[in-house]
Amino acid sequence: MAEPIRVCITGACGQIAYSILYMIAKGDVFGRDQPLILHLLDIPPMMGVLEGVVMELADCALPLLVQVVPTADPNVAFKDVSAAFLVGSMPRKEGMERKDLLSANVKIFKVQGEALDKYAKKDVKVLVVGNPANTNAFICSQYAPSIPRENFTAMTRLDQNRAQANIAAKVGVPVENVKNVVIWGNHSATQFPDVKNATVKVGNVEKSVYDAVGDSSYLENDFITTIQKRGAAVIAARKMSSAMSAAKAASDHMHDWWNGTENGKWVSMGVVSDGSYGVPKDIVFSFPVTIENKQWKIVQGLTVDDFSRSKFAVTATELLEEKEEATAVCKL
Ligand code: NAI
Repeated sequence: MAEPIRVCITGACGQIAYSILYMIAKGDVFGRDQPLILHLLDIPPMMGVLEGVVMELADCALPLLVQVVPTADPNVAFKDVSAAFLVGSMPRKEGMERKDLLSANVKIFKVQGEALDKYAKKDVKVLVVGNPANTNAFICSQYAPSIPRENFTAMTRLDQNRAQANIAAKVGVPVENVKNVVIWGNHSATQFPDVKNATVKVGNVEKSVYDAVGDSSYLENDFITTIQKRGAAVIAARKMSSAMSAAKAASDHMHDWWNGTENGKWVSMGVVSDGSYGVPKDIVFSFPVTIENKQWKIVQGLTVDDFSRSKFAVTATELLEEKEEATAVCKL
């Protein structure tokens, strides 16, 4: 058996954590032969609930789970961790403006960035799920200067999975037949789900999604808005936000970061922009990436037309605004 690795999950009493803890602890993310020590962080008033989560994990009797460390202290939570899922954040309450929410959450990610900087392994892989995920990831990395910026990513995999499932249903094929759908930009309603370079296997023939769907108006209108508003549609139906699918997406994201992407396939991740495709530098923007040896690389040379560029501009502008607001909050 390998040596155990330490993995932190924040927001450990929340609904996403309730699904993802089981996925991680049974080996879906880091492998079925990788023992784990799980560090569970939540806020002090939730410590009683956290005890219940720890009891349930024990009662799952999972062979890979060596130890569980429940805590309300970020310094304990991030000590020696190799991977961190930053899920915990403040939910939007009635009457709360987007700005208030951003301000509350950015402060959490500042504190956690500082704690990661001091206590985590220097090659820790940090996945930010808590919203506004892209900007939280940016802030977190700013406050962890001893850890490479590339080690902070934001989750847009749920949007990718939603887009892939939508196309599969439209064409009438299994979801794994759809490949290389891209989410560009922010994990928000300004994101751009793009199938210009995506393919789908119909029977034994690999076709472009545009050819297989045969309806470019759908792909450039309803498809985009459906994916952009899917989170709101789930809330309207379930009266709670996406949790099982968000947990599955976080597990997919970290799995691919840890293990690499398959040949010829790419995945979408919010990563720090290097200016590729004309996107402004130094914002956490979702790009298509390939991964090898735990290092991601932005896929270059994809078809990007004027339509795509106009969509990039909208979502990049939102991210620049969020960055400005978040930076101002942190300096207060
Ligand atoms: P939840 O409200 O069920 O759980 C959040 C948990 O975080 C609570 O237990 C809370 O006590 C804890 N928490 C709050 N502040 C904390 C702090 N400073 N440190 C540690 N824990 C803290 O929320 P849920 O449904 O689990 O969602 C979590 C976040 O994920 C939300 O921000 C949500 O908007 C976001 N989300 C992101 C998605 C994405 O695609 N990027 C998809 C779905 C949700």
